Amino acid sequence: MIEVKNLFKSFDDKQVLNDISAIFYSGKINQIIGQSGSGKTVLMKSIIGLYPINSGQILYDGLNIANLSDKEVKTLRRKVGMLFQGSALFDSQTVIENVMFPLKMFSKNNLVQIRERAEFCLTRVGLKPDSFNLFSSEISGGMQKRVAIARAISLNPKYLFCDEPNSGLDPVTSILIDRLIEEITQEYNITTIINTHDMNSIMEIGENIILIDKGNLAWKGSKESIFTADNQALNNFVFASALFQKVKKANEINY
Ligand SMILES: Nc1ncnc2c1ncn2[C@@H]1O[C@H](COP(=O)(O)OP(=O)(O)OP(=O)(O)O)[C@@H](O)[C@H]1O
Ligand SMILES: [Mg+2]
Repeated sequence: MIEVKNLFKSFDDKQVLNDISAIFYSGKINQIIGQSGSGKTVLMKSIIGLYPINSGQILYDGLNIANLSDKEVKTLRRKVGMLFQGSALFDSQTVIENVMFPLKMFSKNNLVQIRERAEFCLTRVGLKPDSFNLFSSEISGGMQKRVAIARAISLNPKYLFCDEPNSGLDPVTSILIDRLIEEITQEYNITTIINTHDMNSIMEIGENIILIDKGNLAWKGSKESIFTADNQALNNFVFASALFQKVKKANEINY
């Protein structure tokens, strides 16, 4: 579980996040949703510790990251998996080399054990052995996402951060990737936080959702409560598309 309390973040004079408090649960898909520029990535990077915050607290299973020693920070970092926009694979390395990379950096295992672990993770995300030795530039965008997920889970993370994991994927592949992240989250009881503005993804897997609107926490809830919530910022976001307006009309949803 990750808890954020009264987080404020600005860049120079620009206030980006105002008094954000939220709980992200283990074994659940926690989503940060909101329009482009609302502050999702800044919030995620602040939680990971990539951005210093102005005030507030960030607790990983009760541990305030501001109070950790350098050694404790290193230990915590090894429990964090990240899946950033665009997969960020090494083009000059093969699929399996990409997954072996963090294992070589951070595990004490020998090369045989590292290769076995990488093969296990690649198999877990649905890739076949005949793709393991292809270069990452030779595989499709959906497969690249799978490799990136395999790499993110290779060190058995307790916390998984995914910033727009569906960007650049078609709707069918997006849902497959969403379901894969959901399955892995539940299977390994990971605290998974996903940034998204993809309504399909929200309606498919959103269990614990927070909406950020211009840097403010505007709404919290689950995918089931979206259509009945009486919240202007949420309605503006959800019903921005013609499709969702039609869905609302078709169901005569009264909000
Ligand atoms: N390093 C930075 N320095 C200054 N301002 C920044 C920095 N990073 C982000 N911002 C500003 O913070 C605001 C929130 O940006 P952020 O990237 O978090 O939005 P987002 O919700 O992730 O948007 P998107 O959906 O497009 O990814 C924006 O106004 C952006 O310009
Ligand atoms: Mg972003």
